Amino acid sequence: MRVLCFGSLNIDYVYEVPRFITGGETLAAASLRRFSGGKGLNQSIALARAGLEVRHAGAVGRDGLFLLEELRAAGVDTGYVEVLEDVQTGHTVIQRTPSGENCILLYGGANRSITREHIDRVLPDFGPGDALVLQNEISELPCLVERAKARGMTVALNPSPMEDGLLPLLPCADYLLLNEIEAAQLLGGLGKPVPEAGEALAEALAAALPASAAVVLTLGAQGSLCARGGRLIKQAAVPVRAVDTTAAGDTYTGFFLAGALSGQSVERAMAYASTAAAIAVTRPGAAPSIPSREEVLAKLGG
Ligand code: RIB
Repeated sequence: MRVLCFGSLNIDYVYEVPRFITGGETLAAASLRRFSGGKGLNQSIALARAGLEVRHAGAVGRDGLFLLEELRAAGVDTGYVEVLEDVQTGHTVIQRTPSGENCILLYGGANRSITREHIDRVLPDFGPGDALVLQNEISELPCLVERAKARGMTVALNPSPMEDGLLPLLPCADYLLLNEIEAAQLLGGLGKPVPEAGEALAEALAAALPASAAVVLTLGAQGSLCARGGRLIKQAAVPVRAVDTTAAGDTYTGFFLAGALSGQSVERAMAYASTAAAIAVTRPGAAPSIPSREEVLAKLGG
């Protein structure tokens, strides 16, 4: 089984602020730091640090070459990433508060320049038994999903950021990994009632998808849930003092998929993923906060 993550690569500019800024206000930031990020890059690094062999596909401008070095340093193959001329690498402006909460303004840049031709240069190298990991920060997602399914690939979709254009892709997802906000948006987009409780939310999502699909719902400090085939599995969060929650969901996604795709039980994959995410939130930044497999296993107790 080979794992391809076709996803975004961003330069994250993280501003430390006392609270989130509101409309019409000017607010001074206490510090500015630049990190490697993008949901795609973060998930590729999490998959690799969790122990899988990972190939990343995507696009950057010349200003984003350091992102490829960060991927390679984590052991990710970057052979399918295209370097575009006259296009800026995707970037974000992230506000981070003292409690570690964030809000993110995203500029897609090169991530929005993924073309069908690029997809056709990559996907023919993959087939049945291989897995495709996707988020929603690149262009041509419907084409990617359709062609990956036609090749018999397993599709894992993190519908983030969520938008109604993703709804037709949901029946193609073998794994759907999302947070509460995205889950509510998804059910609302399908015209279904949105339950308040996490368990009812996970069950409602699973009912809207094919029976074979696994729905993994992350609930922050309330832990996570996995609904599949009429079963609901719960995982408590690992209590920690968060300094930066950026990429916590990406870390969870990468470690969960690494476990599930390599044959671990759902329970074990969820414990692996929540421990990894708990470590990630104790460190600043996106990609640099993602722990190694050894760190996670040591905290898990083997
Ligand atoms: O999920 C966190 C990521 O979202 C950040 O690294 C940022 O680049 C945005 O894509």
